[in-house]
Amino acid sequence: MNGQLSTKHLLGIKHITKEDIQLIFHTAENFKEVINRPIKKVPSLRDVTIANLFFENSTRTRISFELAEKRLSADTINFSAAASSVKKGETLLDTVNNILSMKVDMVVMRHPAPGAPQFLADRIDANIINAGDGTHEHPTQALLDAFSMREKVGELKGKKIAIIGDIKHSRVALSNIYCLKKLGAEVVVCGPPTLLPKHIESLGVNKSYNLKETLEWCDIANVLRIQLERQDIQYIPSKREYNQYFGLNLSLLNSLKSVPVIMHPGPINRGIELDSDVADSEYSIILQQVENGVATRMAILYLLASREKIEY
Ligand code: CP
Repeated sequence: MNGQLSTKHLLGIKHITKEDIQLIFHTAENFKEVINRPIKKVPSLRDVTIANLFFENSTRTRISFELAEKRLSADTINFSAAASSVKKGETLLDTVNNILSMKVDMVVMRHPAPGAPQFLADRIDANIINAGDGTHEHPTQALLDAFSMREKVGELKGKKIAIIGDIKHSRVALSNIYCLKKLGAEVVVCGPPTLLPKHIESLGVNKSYNLKETLEWCDIANVLRIQLERQDIQYIPSKREYNQYFGLNLSLLNSLKSVPVIMHPGPINRGIELDSDVADSEYSIILQQVENGVATRMAILYLLASREKIEY
């Protein structure tokens, strides 16, 4: 696996190049082959210590990073804010400096504040990987999403991708848009007007308020979670009404001329944005996305660590 990323950190898709994305895909393809072998472990990150700092809840991203690190033979430490001295008032920088003084090489961080990974990258030496910062970016999710799309429909240049749902509060939406546009895909965001940001077209995407038309148009529909925890004001009249106008169910898919590939980053609000008859159907690649998350994160960790070895 040759090549080098243009960046020391993965803070967001906005900051990486199309070539970086393609290098990550190529490396992830190799690691996907590795994790399907009887012996799934390689020594690539032996002697590299990685801290997983989660200041916000996570199932998929946290477990996926831990597994990726173990498969690469890295040493890992796991930190959860809920069980830490953050609860006693310790600052982010103090927390991280204490952990780094234990000789940590890389930090994977999820934090509720947009820009928290950049704040760390400006102040400490370790490589920082953003595992989701508030409503800002979730770059590893976008990379695993695009990797899964590419696996299903081929190169994404010219492909029609719809991102459906709560775009306003979604870090997955922003990272997906940056990634898909860099790869040359056509992107439509679809949802109720209150959940589509006002100037989203400036990112090179089109808007739609009509779910059926959008599903007829696209090759792939990436359906996003209504972020009920971020609804500081009421953006939708009710969950039931949202499901009626913007929820995907099998009878809607069966009424289409052709059914797009259905994706969702998880966690799913079943019965709101996605009914179970779609989430668990032959059209859904939701569990393939999760599987690809491990290979994609192995690629990112490996490429960032290799870059450091070359520089030092
Ligand atoms: N997709 C995603 O980020 O899920 P988690 O919040 O469970 O990590």
